[in-house]
Amino acid sequence: MGAGRRGLEPALSAVFFMTTDITTQTLAQLGANTPEAVAQQFAEVRRHFDEEVARRGADPSAQTALLARWMGRKSGALTQIGDNWLKPAPQDLKPIVGQEFQKLKAHIAAVVEEKRKEGEAAAENRAAARDTFDLSLPGVQREIGTRHLIRQTFDELIGIFLSIGFRVVEGPEIETPYYNFEALNIPEHHPARDNMDTFYIAGARGERLLRTHTSPMQIRTMEKEPPPVRIVVPGKVYRRDNPDATHGYMFHQIEGLAVDRDITFCDFRGTVEYFVREFLGPKAKTRLRPSYFPFTEPSAEVDATCHVCGGTGCRVCKFSGWIELFGAGMVNPAVYGFVKYDPEKLSGFAFGMGVDRLAMMKYGLTELPVLFQNDVRFLRQFP
Ligand code: DAH
Repeated sequence: MGAGRRGLEPALSAVFFMTTDITTQTLAQLGANTPEAVAQQFAEVRRHFDEEVARRGADPSAQTALLARWMGRKSGALTQIGDNWLKPAPQDLKPIVGQEFQKLKAHIAAVVEEKRKEGEAAAENRAAARDTFDLSLPGVQREIGTRHLIRQTFDELIGIFLSIGFRVVEGPEIETPYYNFEALNIPEHHPARDNMDTFYIAGARGERLLRTHTSPMQIRTMEKEPPPVRIVVPGKVYRRDNPDATHGYMFHQIEGLAVDRDITFCDFRGTVEYFVREFLGPKAKTRLRPSYFPFTEPSAEVDATCHVCGGTGCRVCKFSGWIELFGAGMVNPAVYGFVKYDPEKLSGFAFGMGVDRLAMMKYGLTELPVLFQNDVRFLRQFP
């Protein structure tokens, strides 16, 4: 191996190859055939080692290099000395070569160990320096968000119904036409489907759609559980509406269903009035207007006195004094037929509220899209 062949810098390669050269030759080749000459060769090696240690310093990569070069099993300098100096040494020189070899090994091992400790201590010091806190520095402020206005409204609505014995269930947003329509007494070609146009998904397991309302959970719940049932169903619903200030392709609803023996229209009305007063304040009055839904009979639109003018008439209620809140009614007995409930023994009521609508109304919003644009300047106004 010639100096500089590997492109090492001159100072380094000189030392490197000098050591390599002498340890790749036998002592005889080096002309060391007296004990003094042997000791001298060992002293030479030791000097190279000490120089290299001094040059490399204590960082971890230097440690690795030092170990490989001097103590590496296959071609480290010590192995070479064992192979080239000790093994072929003539009988009379063997003891002195052995002694010198042991001394050299002990020296190298001691220095390597010392360097390892130094390196470790340095690393510890560096870590300690890194971990030191300066308590006088300003801290990192992590901003905590707020519950979204829709979430807050959900929680408020659900809280009111929990307080009178309803429980919460949730259901799939991808539904079958059966649960979304048929079992709710909305057969194919029924005109009630027209204003519930949605997104259809063709799949291996038959046609699916994004539910247009939370009402399918009425069916899914009654299918699974015997009466009595008292549930509210919060969730997202989808319709193929053209987006404008008050419409989007997705909005939120809470469905309600109460079925038991002897539930009357009075229970229905009382529940609705209780809800309206809890939600809008004790002064709010309720009115039921006749309406139509295939899954309720009779059906009603629930109105409340305008929360802005209190019922005297203003721009918000278009001077009628009333605001439309949600649709509701007594469960149509035809629905019980789909879930094997006995219509002779059972009765109940149901309702479905647009949560976004109620939030807009209560908080005086005129635009629906602000709820979904995630602009913190808007969201922060509802801490
Ligand atoms: N599902 C209806 C809709 O989305 C709302 C509704 C009306 C739900 C009356 C009901 C109900 O449970 O009784 O338009």
